[in-house]
Amino acid sequence: MSSGAPPSARYAVIGNPISHSRSPLIHAAFAAQTGASIEYGTLLAPLDGFAASVERFIAEGGAGLNVTLPFKEQACDWVQQRGGSISARALAAGAVNTLRFDAGEVLGDNTDGAGLVRDLELRHGIALRGMRVVLLGAGGAARGAAQALLARGVAALLIANRTPARARQLVTALADQRASAIEWHGIGAAGAQLLLQATSAAFTGGALELPAGVFAGQPFCYDMTYAPRSTAFLDQARQAGCRRGADGLGMLVEQAAESFLLWRGVRPQTEPVYRSLREQLDGA
Ligand code: ATR
Repeated sequence: MSSGAPPSARYAVIGNPISHSRSPLIHAAFAAQTGASIEYGTLLAPLDGFAASVERFIAEGGAGLNVTLPFKEQACDWVQQRGGSISARALAAGAVNTLRFDAGEVLGDNTDGAGLVRDLELRHGIALRGMRVVLLGAGGAARGAAQALLARGVAALLIANRTPARARQLVTALADQRASAIEWHGIGAAGAQLLLQATSAAFTGGALELPAGVFAGQPFCYDMTYAPRSTAFLDQARQAGCRRGADGLGMLVEQAAESFLLWRGVRPQTEPVYRSLREQLDGA
């Protein structure tokens, strides 16, 4: 017999690995706050089984997915091959982090860039319009950040990458005269008002080896990754005299809120969720 309560809408985050993901905690907090009846779990897909896992989730009545490493680029291709619609910002980033399934229709979006911009502007008080920004990295994460920063009106986006050819490739792909590539050893002299760390060094275990003088006179350093209390990049920045900085925990919460908005039509309040996650992480 039916209990009379409407069934909960099912969501999950798909990735490999996935057990470390904080998205279930974040979305449970958003649901409690907004009174939404949802279930949100984790979905471990085999490295060669992204599409099959998503199709199964849809067949079982799933309403939406967040997509994380290493499937974001693949998700972008999959949506297009399946005849779904894709948002302009996901297409520009070449990556999808949010999928919505609605009466057989698939929508692919990317909320990472918006999450970054909201965290920088609303939580950390950085006014991006007209700013001179140095971006470290030229992979998928850097590309998404670059699109969002240009769309938000930065005056100059200087991209430095360990492998310079990849920075030049990203500049070509961005096709925006405000974007240019700079040498790795030129970061310190670039006159940035914001230095943004978007490499995957923290995930791959390799040290991010920066040339001397990178942090001299940097007003604000932002690391798109996060870790308990601080990250190696932010430690280095602080030791070199940079007084203001932040990690990417706020970006994580903000991109989740953008996904929740897309799925549920309600924007949750992020600050209480951010504060509680911060306490949990830093107390770990
Ligand atoms: P993601 O999607 O996370 O950005 P990616 O597309 O593999 O991952 O790109 C990884 C980025 O991190 C690249 O810019 C890479 O630099 P290279 O192009 O020189 O490989 C950068 N990266 C990874 N490990 C690094 C390290 N130890 N030091 C400096 N840059 C690093």
